[in-house]
Amino acid sequence: MDHILSGIKPTGQLTLGNYIGAIRNFVKVQKEGDTFLFVADLHALTLPIEPETLKNNSRDLVAFYLAAGLDPKTATIFLQSDVPDHSELAIILQNYLYMGELSRMTQFKDKSSKMKEEAIGLGLFAYPVLMAADIVIYDSKRIPVGEDQVQHVELARDLVKRFNNRYGDILIMPKAEMVKVGARIMSLSDPTKKMSKSDPKGDIYLKDDIKVIRKKIMSAVTDMLAKVHYDPVNQPGISNLMTILSSLTGKSFDEIEKEFDGKGYGDFKRAVADVVCEEISKLQARYNEIINSGLVDEVLAEGAKKASVIASATLKRVQKAIGLYHK
Ligand code: TYM
Repeated sequence: MDHILSGIKPTGQLTLGNYIGAIRNFVKVQKEGDTFLFVADLHALTLPIEPETLKNNSRDLVAFYLAAGLDPKTATIFLQSDVPDHSELAIILQNYLYMGELSRMTQFKDKSSKMKEEAIGLGLFAYPVLMAADIVIYDSKRIPVGEDQVQHVELARDLVKRFNNRYGDILIMPKAEMVKVGARIMSLSDPTKKMSKSDPKGDIYLKDDIKVIRKKIMSAVTDMLAKVHYDPVNQPGISNLMTILSSLTGKSFDEIEKEFDGKGYGDFKRAVADVVCEEISKLQARYNEIINSGLVDEVLAEGAKKASVIASATLKRVQKAIGLYHK
């Protein structure tokens, strides 16, 4: 069975983008292979974060994984920091990725562009090294991610090629895969920008009050063309709402266009809000049952044990291949 792996950084509140582009897809693919899903808590340290926030976000993320339908009997769910082998492998792999390629990463450029050079942490720069370690340590072939993470997975592929050329077939080649619709959900307040965890007006947070979610959708930026039509260039706001609706209902863009032919944006937004609010209400109800139940700790303890077995075997294989002595 192929190994499937992905992770989410517990940096801020989870968004509808994380849900549509990643979490829902994890739920869908979990039975198709041996699936490893983790909380990338070490990655969350690459930008300043309060200890309590990091801790709470990490628990929240696991609770949302479970609320969304990830089954801990099927998928191994764990904290990155509970499996120190990731970090040890990253120390090794950092020697096979180069400053030039790391500095070309879009995420690094975006995040560091507003910072003074003296304030850019090494961890932010070396982010894709740890991410590559996360991936290869589970012999992962399939990496379900949203569009913004594909570049990092591509870099992990380059690394695997480079490493295997030098040492033989030691690492498994991973491949990013995305949902067909919804791999890049855009901000509701500026539909030319990605919905990210740090833009309260344009984001829908999974923990937002349902009334607030409805309000955000009803006031989403659209256009003056008065036609529900999929055209991301000229109608980015409407196209984004269509993407959200399509991904949550399974309706095609054609079907949505027909359904709202001759109707106003108000009706269309109401329909999107109904679907999103229903989905998130259900999610929140399950989240509320889980978050204080003790299940999160149980799942994480079990997950770390299962993950460690595979991670330590891969680490040993790598150590041996490169000439590090171990018994
Ligand atoms: P992160 O935490 O930024 O995002 C988690 C997942 O959500 C996807 N995503 C989106 N999808 C659609 N529309 C959006 N607006 C949107 N915003 C985010 C992301 O593409 C991602 O799949 N580096 C990773 C975490 C990570 C990882 C890994 C992932 C660490 N190690 C190994 C895969 C494999 C990250 O920061 O994702």
